[in-house]
Amino acid sequence: MERTLVIIKPDGVQRGLIGEIISRFERKGLKIVGLKMFKVAQKQAEILYAVHKKKPFYSGLLKFITAGPVAGLVIEGISAVNICRKLLGATFGPDAEAGTIRGDFGASVSYNLIHAPDTPETAKNEINIFFKDTDIVSYSLDKIKWVYHPSEEEEMSD
Ligand code: RTP
Ligand code: MG
Repeated sequence: MERTLVIIKPDGVQRGLIGEIISRFERKGLKIVGLKMFKVAQKQAEILYAVHKKKPFYSGLLKFITAGPVAGLVIEGISAVNICRKLLGATFGPDAEAGTIRGDFGASVSYNLIHAPDTPETAKNEINIFFKDTDIVSYSLDKIKWVYHPSEEEEMSD
């Protein structure tokens, strides 16, 4: 089963949107297998955003993500990476479709509430930055049998 990372960024925490945002993933039918509050350390931020190192917004981005506590989640589901990116919406609120998290709650072209990786491989690497294996809980969720048809079982065990 595919896993991805979600980070509710410092603006999302300070605006009191943790519950609202987490409920979007739960209501979609995804399973939360990791959940914690922490501050992103400078070194972790540099690893997370290494691809943006040369971009003009890089130093501002590091300040933003380390500015206060975040809520981190590990989320599991078939195509979890792709589904979570769709729930986030376009990078900034003014461009993001209504109905997405950024589209419903974001008005800034800098603060954007939430992070999620865009490929399964990046997701694996990013989960490892913030979560130890022992922080992640494998369990069965009764509602799952009403989220997926039995024919999807093979994908679920991937
Ligand atoms: P994220 O990685 O945080 O989930 O966001 P994303 O994929 O939608 O956007 P990405 O292009 O990866 O950019 C990473 C973060 O950098 C900030 N950013 N600022 N000022 C700018 O032009 C600019 N562009 C990007 C945002 O915080 C974005 O989420
Ligand atoms: Mg990105």
